[in-house]
Parts: sequence; structure tokens; C-alpha cells
Amino acid sequence: MNLSELKREIQSFKISSKEELESFRIHFLGSKGIIKQKYAELKTVPNLQKKEFGQEINLLRKLAEERHDLLKPQLSKTAFPKTEQIDLSMPGNPINIGSHHPLSIVRKEIIELFSTIGFNVSEGPEIEDDWHNFSALNFPKEHPARDMQDTFFINKSADEIALRTHTSSVQVRVMENSSPPIRTISPGRVYRNEAISARAHCFFHQVEGLYIDKGVSFADLKQTLLYFAQELFGSKTKIRLRPSYFPFTEPSAEVDISCTICSAKGCSVCKYTGWLEILGCGMVDPNVLDSCGIDSNVFSGFAFGMGIERIAQLKYKVSDLRFYSENDIRFLDQFKSAL
Ligand code: PHE
Repeated sequence: MNLSELKREIQSFKISSKEELESFRIHFLGSKGIIKQKYAELKTVPNLQKKEFGQEINLLRKLAEERHDLLKPQLSKTAFPKTEQIDLSMPGNPINIGSHHPLSIVRKEIIELFSTIGFNVSEGPEIEDDWHNFSALNFPKEHPARDMQDTFFINKSADEIALRTHTSSVQVRVMENSSPPIRTISPGRVYRNEAISARAHCFFHQVEGLYIDKGVSFADLKQTLLYFAQELFGSKTKIRLRPSYFPFTEPSAEVDISCTICSAKGCSVCKYTGWLEILGCGMVDPNVLDSCGIDSNVFSGFAFGMGIERIAQLKYKVSDLRFYSENDIRFLDQFKSAL
């Protein structure tokens, strides 16, 4: 092949892969390539033509190098199949943002409502002794009222250590360690030995409240609960108190709110009564005050306790208690905008 043919071949050379570019380089510019061979031929060229022949090979080498440099960037453009090219106009992959758990949302809301009227928050251990969970709260040993709360005992020996069955135990600790006026709520997890179903669970969450001062009356209790119910469920909400029994309060009551789902007309959630039970309450039994070092002749107080799961169930129409602890993203996702 003469030099002008080689020149044409170089100038019209096309590639479609890295391998083809490399074989172009080896073929023309490699150590055993055509250009090297031509330089070797130079020796055999008559002296008179040497200069011209040498200049032609130099030109050829330059052409081959330029062609190589020209083809290389084209390759990086075609190296990826079309489908893998990045289209910057496409929307990005969505970043999945987490949500607050409905129980956290309701817990926060309850705390805010009570802090507005002067209640602080107190917390205590989930593993409790008999004194704080039962005895100080007027549950005498062997008293059948202890059966009301199916207890998980950790050590059924002399000390009787158990998982707390209610956060009233925190209130005992507060009363023991401070003096009235006391206005506190105790949110937290509690445990009861119950079979897990749509309506019961072996652990759940409570917020219990305690107010102790001189001259605290049942009317104060009722008004506090009315404020709470109307703030949480709307200003049209009514409350109703039914007599009940708790060892640590006397008198005791169970509190219903007018059904928020059917506006008290009657539906399957309120079992066609128009009322929904939401909490237990009462005036702190003088025995409890005395057990905790507060003089019951001077001070009186009220207490109440509610399940956060129950409140969240009514607020968000949750049909099964188990949803709260299953961590199903389809359930949790529904609360994304709730806080
Ligand atoms: N501790 C009670 C319970 O867990 C609730 C309650 C608290 C009732 C305070 C009355 C007063 O069932």
C-alpha cells in the first residue's frame, strides 16, 4: 500500500468500540505498526528521495495520531447503550420520609393540653415493686382488686417485682418526693397479662394525671376532664361520669365522651349508646395520701388515667389494637401529615 492510500485509510477510519480504536492504534502507531515499518523502509529509499519520503511518513504519523485523538472522545459518547444515558430532566427517586407513630402524636397532644393548665410531666421505671404498683395505692395484699390488673411478675418472691400495670406507680413516687401543690401527668408504657387480640394487648400506654392541693374538689376534676375532652375531640363534645371502683380513689368514676363518630346518634363503635368510654378517675383516697406522706386532713386531690391507644383509636378510627405494634408501613404512612 502506498502512502497516499494509507493516508485515505487513516482519514476514513471509523470505529464503534474501544477494541476497534485499540486495533487502529496498534495497526498504524504500534511498535510493529505500519508507520514503524515505513520508517524502516526509509533505509532502502535512494538518498535523493529520503528527505521527501521521511516528511511523508512524519505526516502520516501525525494524521494517524490526530485521527486517534479524534475518535477517542466519540467513543465515550457511544460507550453506553442509549437506555443508560442519564436524563437530567427526569424527576429523582423519591426519598421516603418517615412519620410519627400515632401513639406519639396523641401522647404529645395530651401532654400539651395538660401543660397549658399547669401540669408537668413525670416519669418512672417500667419495672416496679409491689409498694409503688399496689400497696401504696391501697391495694391490700390478697385483695381481690389486684386481680383487676393481670400482672406480669418478674420475681414472685418476697420483693414481688413486676412490670408496672399502670402509671399510677409514678404518681406514688411523685407524692413521696414532693409536697403539694402537685399537678402532674405521667405518660408511659404499662403491661398486663392479657391475650393479644383486636381489643386487648399485653402492653399499652397510659397517661395518668394527679392534682393535689388544699380544697381540690370533684367539681375541679369534672371541669378538668371536660376541658380535656373538648380540646381533644372538639368543643361540642359532652362528658358523662358513671360511678365505678378503684382502690386508690374514692369516689371513683368512669368517664364517657359523646360518640365522636356518629355525633351521639348511635353507631357500631359506640354500640348504639351514643357514648364512648375513655378514662377512669376519682378523688385520691385519703389512705393513699397518708401512705405517701401527704396529710389527708389538709390536702385533697383527684386522679385520672387513660389509655393512649384508646384515645388514638377514637381519633383516627383504628379498628385493631395490634396495628400499633406491627410496624406495617401502610398503617404508619397514614400519619405522615398528622403532626
Ligand atoms: N390506674 C387506673 C388503671 O390503670 C386508672 C385510674 C387512674 C383510675 C387514676 C382512677 C384514677 O386502670
